[in-house]
Amino acid sequence: MTGDLLEPDPLDHLRRRAEAVFARGYRLPYHPLVIAEAHGARIVARDGSEYLDFNAMAATVLTGYGHPAVRAAIVAAVESDFQQLTPLLPNEASVGLAERLVACAPVHPAKRVWYGCSSGDAIDCLVKIAPAAARRPRLVSYIGAHHGMTIGSGALSGDMTQRRFLGAPNIVKAPFPDPYRCPWGPCDRGECSLRCLDFLDEYVLSEQSPHEETAAIFIEPIQSNAGEIVPPANYLPALRALCDRHGIWLIADEVKTGLGRTGLMFAIQHAGITADAVVLGKGLGGGLPLAAIVGRDEILDVGVTTAQTLSGSPVACSAALATLSVIEGEALVERAAQLGRTLHDGLAELMNVHRLVGDVRGLGLMAGIELVTDRTTREPGRLEAIRVGRRCFDLGLLVKVGGRLGNVIGLTPPLTISEQDLAQALAILDGALADVASGRLDREG
Ligand SMILES: Cc1ncc(COP(=O)(O)O)c(C=O)c1O
Repeated sequence: MTGDLLEPDPLDHLRRRAEAVFARGYRLPYHPLVIAEAHGARIVARDGSEYLDFNAMAATVLTGYGHPAVRAAIVAAVESDFQQLTPLLPNEASVGLAERLVACAPVHPAKRVWYGCSSGDAIDCLVKIAPAAARRPRLVSYIGAHHGMTIGSGALSGDMTQRRFLGAPNIVKAPFPDPYRCPWGPCDRGECSLRCLDFLDEYVLSEQSPHEETAAIFIEPIQSNAGEIVPPANYLPALRALCDRHGIWLIADEVKTGLGRTGLMFAIQHAGITADAVVLGKGLGGGLPLAAIVGRDEILDVGVTTAQTLSGSPVACSAALATLSVIEGEALVERAAQLGRTLHDGLAELMNVHRLVGDVRGLGLMAGIELVTDRTTREPGRLEAIRVGRRCFDLGLLVKVGGRLGNVIGLTPPLTISEQDLAQALAILDGALADVASGRLDREG
């Protein structure tokens, strides 16, 4: 992104204009800045301040801002294929991307691709077609999950933002294994997993959504909006086995975890399992609106029309092909694994030093820092998390503040992040945690 340094105080001006015209629910209160330029993992605001972006536009910037290969692919596609509608006319980019996704997705057997304009669309499509294809009416998802804002994906979600929307009567929620805050009280990791799985098997799938009536279970391999919660290692294999025993499809929402972020191309590969469908979105389109389902043909060939007019545009698919090439060519998956180790070592170090940090977790370049005011009672440090987020902002680091209890700092930098930038981000986090703990801050949350 490029831009001139504009008039003084453009932030307030633009913000006021946005507030006047954008719907309230459309504005997410993330970072109070207006971008002048962005390169790699760095943003320059219009007032000249510089930021390291460890939120990466809600984890959509995988290959860094303004990657020349992605940009060139977009420009070339705009010049040639701009207005072709993929559902009407197959074009090289959309067919080529589908072939590439089928070849790399951990889906057994991966046969078909469906494109949407947003990840919520793709989830929504599955919410509609999985029950029809399976001839089983019910679906299971998880408390704390976030799958999108459309009616179907919203109903499938189990997070706070969905509470005000109407649900769907055929969706039942199961507890997600959270080793730090196990729904059944303190336990070790393996125990948490088994308790949650037994409850799913013996209660949810027996009484609420009987096995033989359940078409699919939807899961985020890491629950991101809930606070980067990583299930214990034995959970996903056991869930896969449960699905196999009962002919239930397992659908992995890899919208945030997919395409290398966790140190493998797909997060479910850490568990050594395959899914019956995976959903991709966010960074897939290199910044353009694009989502994809890669799935078994018995799910996706359900026999009803599900195409959305502008979905799978050749421009977005060209950007996605370039994004995949950059991920492969620059070995970004391996890089996420390697730099992820540095990140997690650094976070463990922060936890040793700062009593505010109750837990650190994540995989690869996806991490959560859970703040508590008391390590014994694990009282959530919600206000402290807001203050740490603000302090990071003041010190030049963008992070996400969220989680089910509002007390988790989420980190999802671009996969191209440099070691120096990573070290700088850890140093800023260190300073911000120290400042908040000492009460030195002027600004109250
Ligand atoms: C895991 C996951 N799935 C689905 C979605 C929905 O994505 P979109 O807002 O692009 O529809 C999100 C958005 O945050 C997400 O984090």
